[in-house]
Amino acid sequence: MKVLVIGSGGREHALVWKIAQSPKVEKIYCAPGNAGILALAECVDIKADNLEGLFRFAQENSIDLTVVGPEIALCAGIVDLFSDKGLKVFGPDKESARLEGSKVFAKEAMIRFGIPTAEYRIFSDNQYKEAQEYAAGLNKYPIVIKADGLAAGKGVIIAIDKSQADKAVRDILVDKVFGAAGGKILIEECLQGDEASILAICDGEDFVILPASQDHKRVFDNDEGLNTGGMGAYSPANVVDDKLLSEVENKVIRPLLSGMKNDGNPYRGVLYIGLMITLKDIKVLEFNVRFGDPETQAVLPRIKTDLVDIMLAACENRLKGKELEIDARACVNIVMASGGYPGKYEKGKEITGLDEALKMKDVFVFHAGTIRLGSTPLTTSRLGQEENEFKYMTNGGRVLGVTGLGANIEEAISNTYEAVEKINFEGAHFRRDIGKRAIHSEAL
Ligand code: AMP
Ligand code: GLY
Repeated sequence: MKVLVIGSGGREHALVWKIAQSPKVEKIYCAPGNAGILALAECVDIKADNLEGLFRFAQENSIDLTVVGPEIALCAGIVDLFSDKGLKVFGPDKESARLEGSKVFAKEAMIRFGIPTAEYRIFSDNQYKEAQEYAAGLNKYPIVIKADGLAAGKGVIIAIDKSQADKAVRDILVDKVFGAAGGKILIEECLQGDEASILAICDGEDFVILPASQDHKRVFDNDEGLNTGGMGAYSPANVVDDKLLSEVENKVIRPLLSGMKNDGNPYRGVLYIGLMITLKDIKVLEFNVRFGDPETQAVLPRIKTDLVDIMLAACENRLKGKELEIDARACVNIVMASGGYPGKYEKGKEITGLDEALKMKDVFVFHAGTIRLGSTPLTTSRLGQEENEFKYMTNGGRVLGVTGLGANIEEAISNTYEAVEKINFEGAHFRRDIGKRAIHSEAL
C-alpha cells in the first residue's frame, strides 16, 4: 500500500513511525512533514489546508489510504473531497468534524444525545451585554468562556474574576480576537477534577478504544503559565480504570455514535474525548475529531496491533469484534520547546545530541518543528536512522517529542528524561514534572 499522512507535527511523526511498521505498507508520503519524518517517508511540500493540492497528489500517486492529522483539513472537508472521488481516507467528514469545528454544535449534540457535560449558555455577537450580565449574575469564579470556532487551542479562557470574564466576552464577541471563530461564545461552569484524553477509532457504529493518556497543557511545571498545545503526555492514565472506561463507553461513545448515525452523519475516524473526572462523575470537556498531540506520541508506542489494519477497518465499517493488543509498559512523552513558546520564540537553532538519545533502548524522538540541513540529496530509508551528515535545526514552537517506554511509569519517566538530557539546542525549554501526577495519584 501507499499511504499519505497529512500534517507536520510530532503526532504525524508518531503516525508515520507506526504506519511504517505495517507489513502492508510499501511507501509512505507525508505532506508537508518535518525533518524527522524524512527518515521514514517522502515529504511533499503541500500544506494541510491545500485540499485541492493534496487531492491531486493522492490521485496522481495512486494513494491507497490517506490519514489526516490536523483538524483544519478535516473541518474544511478533505474527507468529503477524497471519498466523493473514490479515494480512501481516514477521518470524519465535514459535517461530523463540526464536533471540533464548532463548540456550540458539539455542546448541542452532547445535550441531545444525553452525554454528560458542564452547564452552559450560548451567546451570539449581538448579545455581548447579556453575556457579561449572565456571567456576573452567576458570580461563581472561575468561569469558562469559549469561542465557538477553531482558535488554534487559544479559544478557551478561564476567567478568575468579573473583569477577566468581561474582557474575554468583549475580546471574542466585539473585538473579534479570534476572527470568525468568535461569532458565538459559550459560558460554562468551571469543572474541577482530573483530566484525561481518550481516543476511540470509530467506523460509524463500532469502535476500539486506545489506551487513555494525560496531557500537560500549561507551559511551566506544576501547571503554571500559559496554555500550550501540550508539553508532554503519559499513558496509561491511572485515573482511568476499567470501571471508568466502561462508563465512558456507555455514557459518551455509544450515545455519540448512535446519535450521529441517527442524524445521518455516522462518525468515522478518531474521536478524541477530553474528559474531566470529577469527584462525583465524568463530564466531557470537549471533542476533537483527530489524534491528540502530544497524546498520540505516548499512546502509539503502546499499541502492538497493526494501526493500518484498524484504520482500514474503520474506513470500511469492519471494526466490529476488533481488539487492540496493548503493551503493558508505560510510555512518557516530553516536549522540548523553543524558549519563549507559546509566545514569541526564535527559530534556526542547531539541535545536538539526537544520535546519543536515539541509541538508548526504548526511546523514540518524534520531531515537530524541525528542519534538516545537509549537502547530500534527501534520501528516505525505512529504518529511521539518523544520518550524520545532516544538521537538524529548530523551526517551530514545539520542537521535539522525546518519548520513552518503561516497565512502569517511574521507569518510563527516568528513561525519557535521561534521553532529554542528551539533547540540546539554544533556549530549549521542557517541563521537569511530566508524569509526576501519575506517581502522586498512584500513591493516594
Ligand atoms: P480546548 O481548547 O477545548 O481543548 O480546552 C482547553 C482546556 O480548557 C481543557 O483541556 C481544560 O483544561 C479547559 N477547560 C475547558 N472547559 C472547561 C470546563 N468547563 N471546566 C474546566 N476546565 C475547562
Ligand atoms: N493535546 C491536546 C490536543 O491535541 O488537542
